[in-house]
Amino acid sequence: MIKVGVCGCGTIGSYLINVILKKYSNCICLVGVSETNPESLKSLSSSLKKKMLNFSLEELVRKSDLIIEAAHASVVPELLELVIKHKKQVMLMSVGGVLTKRGLFEKIKDNKIKMYIPSGAIAGLDALKAARMGKIKSVKLTTRKPVAGLIGAPYLMKNKINLKSIKKDKVVFSGSALKAVECFPKNINVAAILSLAGLGATKTKVCIVASPITKRNTHTIEIKGDFGTILTCTENVPSKLNPKTSMMAILSALATLDGIMSNLKIGT
Ligand SMILES: NC(=O)c1ccc[n+]([C@@H]2O[C@H](COP(=O)([O-])OP(=O)(O)OC[C@H]3O[C@@H](n4cnc5c(N)ncnc54)[C@H](O)[C@@H]3O)[C@@H](O)[C@H]2O)c1
Repeated sequence: MIKVGVCGCGTIGSYLINVILKKYSNCICLVGVSETNPESLKSLSSSLKKKMLNFSLEELVRKSDLIIEAAHASVVPELLELVIKHKKQVMLMSVGGVLTKRGLFEKIKDNKIKMYIPSGAIAGLDALKAARMGKIKSVKLTTRKPVAGLIGAPYLMKNKINLKSIKKDKVVFSGSALKAVECFPKNINVAAILSLAGLGATKTKVCIVASPITKRNTHTIEIKGDFGTILTCTENVPSKLNPKTSMMAILSALATLDGIMSNLKIGT
């Protein structure tokens, strides 16, 4: 039995908790959660028809073998320091949080902490990881999102970009993955994932398109290297609970958890 704690029980966290209790109770002992919003706790408890224990972050880390983070990028530095201190495993969803705090990713590697980063709502990480064994020339991500999925992004507010006035597809950001996660902390975790698997945060290029037409979060990736070219595209249905989060990202977290429990590993 592995003891699992979940930090953040919103869209992703509560989905995982429900599945863990229904399908993995033979191999996972759910310790509880660390959640700051009483409303999220209430809604989780009503979906489970029972109360979930809520701990401080450090208490949750101390009690668990594996902590699943599905909260917010701002919690990542503190969580990872605690994971290092108590020598635990961690699965991270708010991946942008590791890019924006310099040296954190290296610290995790140096301390030999097992950190799992699901692929999220993109395809092609398997091939990118293989390509990295040779030479990669360029990695470019173009993300097209419904305007509702970009509401509240600090970059748009700072630059007074009014989403309501957008009548056709508009490029609202173009730059490095590092800049993208700083400017869109809740919207572009895939840029962080892609850069950690490939060319790094400054060399991975990101373009964000706000679309008043589409209902899907579309991620198109182009990777060039000595191996040739990779082109992938995922057209993701947004979660009904949170339009910023794609259903595929939730399933990818579940698949990662399933992989941790499994003795079989298929794919790179
Ligand atoms: N890696 C990916 O591909 C990917 C995809 C989608 C979302 N995300 C990220 O995963 C995270 C969760 O996404 P979601 O759709 O479940 O969001 P959500 O808003 O539905 O849920 C987040 C929950 O975390 C709680 N929370 C926030 N700060 C907290 C803290 N410091 N401690 C404990 N709880 C806290 C909130 O109250 C909320 O209940 C977000 O950071 C999001 O950007 C990652």
